[in-house]
Amino acid sequence: MVQTNHGALALVTIDLPKVLSGKVRELYDAGDDRLLIVASDRVSAFDVIMAEPIPDKGRVLTAMTVFWSAEMSDVVPGTLLAEDPREIEGALGDARFPSEWAGRAVLVRRADMLPLECIVRGYLAGQAHEEYEKSGTVHGKAMPAGLKLADRLAEPIFTPSTKAPEGHDVNIDFAQAVDLVGAEAATAARDICLELYARAAARAADVGFILADTKFELGYVDGVLSLCDEVCTPDSSRLWPADQVVPGHTPPAFDKQPLRDWLAAQPWDRTPPPPPLPPSVRDALSARYVAAYERVTGLSLDDWYGARS
Ligand SMILES: Nc1ncnc2c1ncn2[C@@H]1O[C@H](COP(=O)(O)OP(=O)(O)O)[C@@H](O)[C@H]1O
Ligand SMILES: [Mg+2]
Repeated sequence: MVQTNHGALALVTIDLPKVLSGKVRELYDAGDDRLLIVASDRVSAFDVIMAEPIPDKGRVLTAMTVFWSAEMSDVVPGTLLAEDPREIEGALGDARFPSEWAGRAVLVRRADMLPLECIVRGYLAGQAHEEYEKSGTVHGKAMPAGLKLADRLAEPIFTPSTKAPEGHDVNIDFAQAVDLVGAEAATAARDICLELYARAAARAADVGFILADTKFELGYVDGVLSLCDEVCTPDSSRLWPADQVVPGHTPPAFDKQPLRDWLAAQPWDRTPPPPPLPPSVRDALSARYVAAYERVTGLSLDDWYGARS
């Protein structure tokens, strides 16, 4: 981690050993092969953490992950043990659960993570689009000529990347994923993630969204591949309003895209420190995260938080 600004959450802690501080989440060892994962309001872009927290973001990520994990539990087991603060506190023994973490913390089974970011793409966007423009390939795989940004791919493709502890993840092809985790795990990860993507994309389409791409993380719990980390959140996915997608143009996405676009227009070399975010950018991003949750799930974020505080 190149930066130490951890937003408002730095002021609050819990009497448990810290396992790691990710770009967005704080992980604590809750004993008995369990982790307490707390989603902060931090936002990162181009792998750099912005100095300003985005209001409500951690709660959106948590609520959306809980929603999707339940939707997908018949495809792949999840790792969630508890997300209600009272249940979490009850499961923790002596450690007092800070009220500031209501709605943004989950207790999960600790998994032995596959060292892969399991990305599935149904549309051409982001880094895949950049690679395609340069070489006509996506994660090393040749693609048909003439594709434009935001074009739908002939079929969804599994395009893994490495999980780099520092710096940028590296896009790899399926053969390299096999080298990393073995043929059996790579094949299982691909099949599971393609099914999860199809499931989520269909549900998103029902409410007028295109799930252009998304990143899953899988890990072994008691020898069984399980769905870990965040699931189909605006941080891990590109979510486009279906009626506003015009191939060749960047869609007005319900994810970090407004931040990426604003940053791209700044004189900034993508190394820390990032430029300070104006309140208008911060608030617009917050509103988009909340709207993504509410429109995709049909639920209210206030209800989510209210029931947990
Ligand atoms: N059930 C789990 N068991 C073990 N590790 C997990 C589990 N769920 C998530 N993780 C890990 O927790 C971290 C989440 O923190 P985050 O801030 O998102 O990190 P990153 O900067 O790597 O994206 C990731 O490294 C993820 O792989
Ligand atoms: Mg992450």
